[in-house]
Formats: sequence, C-alpha cells, structure tokens
Amino acid sequence: MSTNIDVANMSRTELRVRELEDKNAEALRGGGPDKVAKHKEGSRLSARERLEMLLDPGSFVEMDRFVTHRSTNFGMADKKVLGDGVITGYGRVNGKLVYVYSQDFTVFGGSMSRTQANKIIKIMDMAMKVGAPIIGLNDSGGARIQEGVEALAGYSDIFLRNTLASGVVPQISAIMGPCAGGAVYSPSITDFIFMVKDTSYMFVTGPDVIKTVTHEDVTKEQLGGALAHAQKSGVTHFATNDDKHCLLMIRELLSFLPSNNVDDPPVLPTADRPDRVEEALNSFIPDSPKKPYDMSELIKMIVDEGYFLEVHQHYAKNIIVGFARFNGRAVGIVANQPQVLAGCLNIDASKKAARFVRFCDAFNIPLVTLVDVPGFLPGTDQEWNGIITHGAKLLYAYAEATVPKITVITRKDYGGAYCVMSSKHLRGDVNLAYPTAEIAVMGADGAVNIIFREAIKKASNPETERNRLTTDYEQKFANPYVAAENGFIDEVIEPALTRKRIIDALEMLKNKKDTNPPKKHGNIPL
Ligand code: HXC
Repeated sequence: MSTNIDVANMSRTELRVRELEDKNAEALRGGGPDKVAKHKEGSRLSARERLEMLLDPGSFVEMDRFVTHRSTNFGMADKKVLGDGVITGYGRVNGKLVYVYSQDFTVFGGSMSRTQANKIIKIMDMAMKVGAPIIGLNDSGGARIQEGVEALAGYSDIFLRNTLASGVVPQISAIMGPCAGGAVYSPSITDFIFMVKDTSYMFVTGPDVIKTVTHEDVTKEQLGGALAHAQKSGVTHFATNDDKHCLLMIRELLSFLPSNNVDDPPVLPTADRPDRVEEALNSFIPDSPKKPYDMSELIKMIVDEGYFLEVHQHYAKNIIVGFARFNGRAVGIVANQPQVLAGCLNIDASKKAARFVRFCDAFNIPLVTLVDVPGFLPGTDQEWNGIITHGAKLLYAYAEATVPKITVITRKDYGGAYCVMSSKHLRGDVNLAYPTAEIAVMGADGAVNIIFREAIKKASNPETERNRLTTDYEQKFANPYVAAENGFIDEVIEPALTRKRIIDALEMLKNKKDTNPPKKHGNIPL
C-alpha cells in the first residue's frame, strides 16, 4: 500500500482498489510483527517464506486469503485474523502444478478451526479433480481449543480426503513445528513425511501426559523429534537440518514423482551413458559369503550420475529404499544391505520396503530390486512381534505390483526371502543374477547340518565329512545355474554390465501392461 496518496481526490474505483490493498497488507501481517519475530528465532521461516522456498519463484497463487473463523466462544468474535492461521493455494515445483497449505503458527498457534479445515479441504478437492500433488506444511498447536467438536470435524474431513487421495495423487507432509494429538494422523496417511531437526515434533500424547500415566521422563525432542521418528519409529521418512533443507528436499523428491496415478514419472536428460560398463563391479562382491559389503556403493555405481535419493535412511538400515534414475527414467530401488544384520529381512525392514513398493506401484514407478539376503531374522522378539504378518506385507506388495519389476541377485538369496524379493514367481519381469549368486533354501552350513546330521555323527571324522558335504552342497546349489536352468533367472550377467542390462530391461518394459483381478480392495496383512 502506498502512503502518500491523496485519498480525498480518489475515484470510487480507486478507493475500492485501495481497500483491497489494505486488506492484502493486513493478511500478509499474519499474527503481527512480534509473533512473527518470535517465530523466526533460529532458522525457522515464516509460513509465507516457506511457500516461497518450496515453490518456483513467482508461481504461488493464494486462495481464501480473507477467510476468518466464525467462532464466538471465549471472546473469539473480537479476535479475527485474515486467513485464519493457514495459507492455501497452488503453485509450481520444477514447472509442475502442486497444491499447498502452510500453517501459520503466529495466528492462534496455527490451530485447526472449522474454517481453516475448509480452506485445506478446498485445495485438496481441487488437487483430486486436477490430478496434482498435495503438500502440507504443518506447524500447529492442534485442534482450535475454543471451537471444540467443530475443529475435530474439520480434522476428520481432512483425514477422509487424505485417505481418498491415497494412491491417486502424491501427498507429502512437512512437520515444521508442533504436530500433536489426533493432528498426527493426517501426515501419517500421506505418502512421505519430512521433519525438521530440533524444531518439529510429533506425538499422540505429550511428555506431561506420559509422565502422569507411565511415570516416564522424556523431553519433546526425545519423544517425538525428527531423529526419534527417523530412527526409532520410522514415522518420518526424512529428518532434515532446517526449514530450508526440508523444503528443498521436498522439491528434490517431487522430481521423481508423476503428478498422479495415471501419469508417468518425469524423464530427465542425463549425460551418463546408458551402456556405461562398470568394470569395478566384476570384483566388487567379496569372495567370502560371510564378508559384508556396502550395497549403497553398488547402487551409486549403476544409477545415473551416481545420484540416489534414499528414503527412510535412518530406519531399518538392513534394507535400502529410495529413488534414482536409469537413462533419465525414475525408478524405485529396493536393496538388501549386507552391512547391517547381514541384510536379513526383519519386521521393520519388511514394513519399510512394503510401503515403498506399494507407493511405487501406485504411481507407475518401475521397481529395481537388488538382492543379497540370507533369510528372515530369527528370534523370539521377531516371532512374538509378528514377523509372519509383517514379512507377508512385503511378499504381498511385490506380488500385487504391476509396474515393471527388475531383479538383480548379487549374492545370497535364500529361503522364503528368495520368494519375497521380487522373484520370478511374484511376476518379476526380468530376473538377473551375478555369477556369485547363491540361490538355495538356505546356506550350505545350515543345510548340511540338517540333512546330513546322522551321516556326520556316524562318520569316522565328523568334521572332515561335514566339510566335504558342505563343499558338495555349495557346488550343487550355491550358484545361480539351477535357478537359470528352471527359467527362474532370465540371464546370468557379468556384474560390469548391470547398468546396461537394467536400462535394456526398462526400455523393453516401457509399455508393460498388467492387471490384478477386479476387486473392491485386497486385504494386505496389516
Ligand atoms: C487455540 C492455540 C492452540 C490451540 C496454541 N494456541 N495451541 N489456540 N487452540 N490448540 C495459541 C496459544 O494460546 C497462543 O496464543 C499461541 O497459540 C502460541 O502458543 P504458545 O503456547 O504461546 O506457544 P508455545 O509456547 O510455543 O507452545 C506451543 C504448544 C502449546 C506446545 C503447541 O501452545 C500447546 O501446548 N498448545 C495446545 C496443544 C494441544 O493440546 N492441542 C490440542 C491437541 S489435541 P496467544 O494469543 O497467547 O499468542 C488435538 C486433537 C486433534 O489436536 C484431533 C484430531 C482427530
């Protein structure tokens, strides 16, 4: 608004325009300079600055800027702030349309009122009609306490839309401040959660309630900070350093995703040759099957420009999931990590990978699976906490996935884990194996101990007999050739050619169509 204007000489139209300018300026003030300054202590950005950082410059179009709440309880009739604690609208990320909301903690603590919910619902409904991602920047004290059940109704309406949008458009949540109580359930339904270290937290009940009920002493950060949820619960997929890092990471993630479930993921130009031969891979797998190696190094050697966006980096590290590109085409990578728990599948790894596989399948992102897995992790902890049910999630996810599925077995592929890890039997399209692959019911040591127990006992020199039988078993089964003879492996490849072979397969499968039987929905073991 300009201040040196001669209002007395203005036309009626000019006055109207001035009125609009004043209202816009008022809305932009949010909760006022003091609250904004307090909020921005440290590295936190204001709700509007966050949108500027997230979106392509100048692309944001705000909606419902002048909405105010309708509550009259507890003196609220006199306390109205334009926008009511959330900024909503649409804009572009890397040129692609997205719908966004950004809660403004400086206005009633960003709390959810009926009208705030209506603003969010409006953009969610539009995103569904248009087929564009929804990004929520959460920073809120939860349900607007003065509104009671109306605020709860607002949350419920959002939860419903999150659920209906699931698998239709990508949904991304950033937690950039408090997110407590039932408010956590909107982000948790969305596809990816980002948290900011030290300034964000998520919990269903906070430290005070916990102290009263269970007598545990825990801080907000310990209970529900970014690292707690990245490492312990797996609730968040990304733990970022500050607001800026968080918002740039969201842009990065979106570069791999299609806008909706009928679009294809974006293809980006690359200078990395599709036929690049990686000689180092021919000696990468250690001679001893007991020796670990870093599967993430192998991933970086084969993908475009060595770039891999790891998802859930700090959780269930025995399996790696994330996005990369082959010859510009986005893929989801799932890979056992022999460096952690020997790459065994356990409850956390199964849940982590199953959700990722289902996301990729829902959004037409081909799956590349790198396998080196000795089996499922044994133990009472795993059994009593339901490895049977949770392991089945990953099996189910791979089995129902209809996107192109390419599997490369680098070393061990034993037992039930063989079936699970995108095997030919679960509709794997192209199943490749290194000459170092060992595809068997179990490792040679274990197998010999079971099937030759009596023979070993009776032998004049049990140890020599055990070694002989183990070598014999290894020669028969610890290789990829029995599976290849059966057609369960399409090709045994020279490791140096991994990149080329994956790109050949992706190209060949470009127009793949596959379907599942018609049904209301399946019943994945939850
Ligand atoms: C209305 C709220 C509010 C809320 C904060 N404010 N939360 N107003 N409803 N839920 C207001 C405060 O009154 C204050 O207003 C301003 O926001 C800033 O809050 P402060 O407390 O000064 O900030 P801070 O010290 O940083 O503490 C932040 C906070 C705390 C930890 C989030 O405000 C808090 O505990 N709020 C209540 C959290 C809560 O219990 N929410 C309900 C959860 S249950 P003034 O005018 O003084 O600046 C829930 C159910 C959802 O959400 C169910 C969905 C199914």
